[in-house]
Amino acid sequence: MAKKILIDCDPGMDDSLAIVMAVKSPALSLVAVTCVNGNYPVDVTSKNALKTLEMIGRTDIPVARGMAQPMVRRSPKDPFTHGADGQAENNLPEPKTQLNALHAVDLIVETIKCHPHEVTILCTAPMTNLAMAMVKAPEIIPLIGRIIAISGMFGLNEYAFLNATGDTPQSEWNVYVDPEAADIVYRSGAPLTLIGLDVATHFCVNFTDADMRALEASEKPEARFLKQAIRFVNARGFEAYCTVIDCLAVGLAIDPTLIDTKPYHAGVETKDGLTLGMTIRDGRHHHVWTDLPLLDIAVWADYERFLKLLMSLILA
Ligand code: BDR
Ligand code: CA
Repeated sequence: MAKKILIDCDPGMDDSLAIVMAVKSPALSLVAVTCVNGNYPVDVTSKNALKTLEMIGRTDIPVARGMAQPMVRRSPKDPFTHGADGQAENNLPEPKTQLNALHAVDLIVETIKCHPHEVTILCTAPMTNLAMAMVKAPEIIPLIGRIIAISGMFGLNEYAFLNATGDTPQSEWNVYVDPEAADIVYRSGAPLTLIGLDVATHFCVNFTDADMRALEASEKPEARFLKQAIRFVNARGFEAYCTVIDCLAVGLAIDPTLIDTKPYHAGVETKDGLTLGMTIRDGRHHHVWTDLPLLDIAVWADYERFLKLLMSLILA
């Protein structure tokens, strides 16, 4: 049976492609999309989720608008742009579909209560909606199947630092935008897998010439979308991995053997200053801070298989 997932996101070019990948995978059943402030204000991210689902003809999947600001801060401006439309200037048509009547936080609560222990939440955005759902309805926490999040950077390799996406020298964007929300979710006790920048932003996530030709030859709008996204980031001096960061969460939900994880105690820095939003992994063999939550942290991904899976779903 297909695994039920809910995607909490801020599209964003890579969030949009994560939605496409999830919808097209027979291993997954996407029950809802909830949107939040992050890469762009929540009105834009919600509209982009609707546009994405219209592009692939799945307007039956509910999309809800969520939190417009982080829990206790004002939203920062993203130093990395996803283009004027937030979708790598794909300029998809204005959506005709309506947003779900529920607020995203309530749709998360309702979805978890309707399918206890069955839903995996893929969070590819600041954790504001998730944390608010946990604060509003803490009874859902033990009912969440698992959360897989694109979140943090854990000092496992040079990519954690080279490709830091937040606006402090060592932070990841989704945590940096709303560190208090990340702190709540990290400490919640819900089963949590974090795919940090160490694994989500490898330069070896690249498309071959054959992949580019296959995208070129395809008439699928989602293939055109990915091709334009790669062109967009390359033209600005970035590598292709930027277009598919959030897709790694979908890859892991589809195939748990794609990414290796290890348990580590880790926490979020919520104080202003140089380290705001930094995620600290206690990797010591002695005196470990065991009061920090024990989290499942991604340490390695099979990028070749991930790219094959991604390409096969985009072209399918
Ligand atoms: C995260 O930042 C956003 O720009 C991407 O969509 C991704 O979720 C990576 O740090
Ligand atoms: Ca995102």
